[in-house]
Amino acid sequence: MCRVRVKANILVSWTALVHLQFTRIKNLEWTIAVLNVQDLEIRVGARVLMEGVNFRVASGDKIGLVGRNGAGKTTLTKTLAGETNPTKGSISHSGEIGYLPQDPRAGDPTMLARTRILDARGLGTIALGMQESSLAMADPDPKISAAAMKKYGRLTDEFNGLGGYSAEAEAASIASNLKLPDHILDQALSTLSGGQRRRIELARILFSAAEMMILDEPTNHLDADSVAWLREFVRNYKGGVIIISHDIDLVGETVNRVFYLDANRMMIDIYNMNWKNYLLQRTADADRRKKERSNAEKKASTLQLQAAKFGAKASKAAAAHQMVARAEKLLSGLDAVRAVERVAKLRFPEPSPCGRTPLMARDLSKSYGSLEIFTAVDLAIDRGSKVVILGLNGAGKTTLLRMLAGVDESDTGSIEPGHGLRIGYYAQEHETIDIKRSVLENMVSSSPNITEMEARRVLGSFLFTGDDSNKPAGVLSGGEKTRLALAMIVVSGANVLLLDEPTNNLDPASREEILDALAHYAGAVVLVSHDEGAVQALNPERVLIMPEGTEDHWNKDYLDLIELS
Ligand SMILES: Nc1ncnc2c1ncn2[C@@H]1O[C@H](COP(=O)(O)OP(=O)(O)OP(=O)(O)O)[C@@H](O)[C@H]1O
Ligand SMILES: [Mg+2]
Repeated sequence: MCRVRVKANILVSWTALVHLQFTRIKNLEWTIAVLNVQDLEIRVGARVLMEGVNFRVASGDKIGLVGRNGAGKTTLTKTLAGETNPTKGSISHSGEIGYLPQDPRAGDPTMLARTRILDARGLGTIALGMQESSLAMADPDPKISAAAMKKYGRLTDEFNGLGGYSAEAEAASIASNLKLPDHILDQALSTLSGGQRRRIELARILFSAAEMMILDEPTNHLDADSVAWLREFVRNYKGGVIIISHDIDLVGETVNRVFYLDANRMMIDIYNMNWKNYLLQRTADADRRKKERSNAEKKASTLQLQAAKFGAKASKAAAAHQMVARAEKLLSGLDAVRAVERVAKLRFPEPSPCGRTPLMARDLSKSYGSLEIFTAVDLAIDRGSKVVILGLNGAGKTTLLRMLAGVDESDTGSIEPGHGLRIGYYAQEHETIDIKRSVLENMVSSSPNITEMEARRVLGSFLFTGDDSNKPAGVLSGGEKTRLALAMIVVSGANVLLLDEPTNNLDPASREEILDALAHYAGAVVLVSHDEGAVQALNPERVLIMPEGTEDHWNKDYLDLIELS
């Protein structure tokens, strides 16, 4: 009996397997495809982002999806997750897809954060129901308490069927590793900051145990500990993973395949190898193409020369003709020269004049209910000074910056603007951008007396060309939004820049450019960042440590603290 059952099981699984797609990743290892993409074409507006895209993802595949800002990575993953339709081609998947979009977004705003996470496995609402009925069990009306008891029993069975308390503990551990303490989990989503909501969504997806995870910039809003933990989580994940991240370490240490989305050629180059080998392979490919081109050009020019000599003689005209044809064929067989990717060449303009200390703050503090974030923080920003704010996640760095920018109010104390102060605030969530208005309109409204022509010129230096200026800012990619927000600061003539994680979302080339511009900027900069390179590029004189609000001269030892902030 037992034997028959085993055999039957094998039979069942074989038939199931036959119906599933296979893909071959390494040598002779055959694995089940969790995602299969055929002849995909994606357009946005009139622009083709990619065409002829074919690939399979097997369980255990860890794919790094890379390409310049605006190449179409987010659009591709949105399409894979079924949020938008491709213009052509087919996408099939054998299980669930857990998708973390680049922009924070959450479910029902009245829902508790904890419920949102647990609901990824259908547990949240049940747990809530259990809580409610356990309260009702104490009702003095015996009818109500009996009904509650019955309901409690039914819900408990359901709860246990879905993994029960051990699943709940798993969710709690994920949340705690993403620095989401209990008091956050007990709040409604609407009361959380953008960064917290994003971490809730990440926790939800990691907890869902989906066959396939697609993570678009998962490290935005994570501290270094959480990033290190996420790295391990992704490495050990049994399902398939597609990950987009500007965090090279994360990609470098987790992926076994790399998809390079080339915006110029509108196609994806697939490298079935880890990150290190991918980098080597790309350089080798570029060298090979260069060599091939120069060889072919040399041969062609010899042929053409010879043909010109032959061409003079009537008897050799046919041979000359053949030589020309052969030369043409050689040249036409070459890949088009790959366009060098353009990089924004940025210089921040002279800040408008201001007094010696354009910005002062005294006795700032913030509490959320009974939770005290910081108290009695004093700060003075001198003209042209560079200050970095360090502190653990939740220490109130963003809150402090928002207060200085005049977005949030302090519970106590005051902000004292100095003579001629003009603040340029860069918000991590790109809140300074009006997503309904066009790129150009956003620029024009950020400076009182800028002409449209000047706005277009600055936009051009931030890599926005004609058509891009007319796009509604809401459709911009993450990196494009960062570029726009910075361009808006540039034209505003600000003399104190308040920058909250300005390098998030940027591709490596754009990041370098922006850091370089920042290093040469004559105005004052207050920076919040967990990007060590960004802090080093700024070369700050001072550091403010949160939540204590202690000030100190900058020294290299603080680099270790950035890791933690
Ligand atoms: N509805 C739309 N109309 C016009 N252009 C659009 C629309 N939606 C997206 N785009 C453009 O498509 C391009 C691809 O955007 P996408 O967000 O996919 O890029 P990305 O590779 O994820 O970039 P990043 O690294 O900056 O996040 C961008 O140039 C964007 O402005
Ligand atoms: Mg994107």
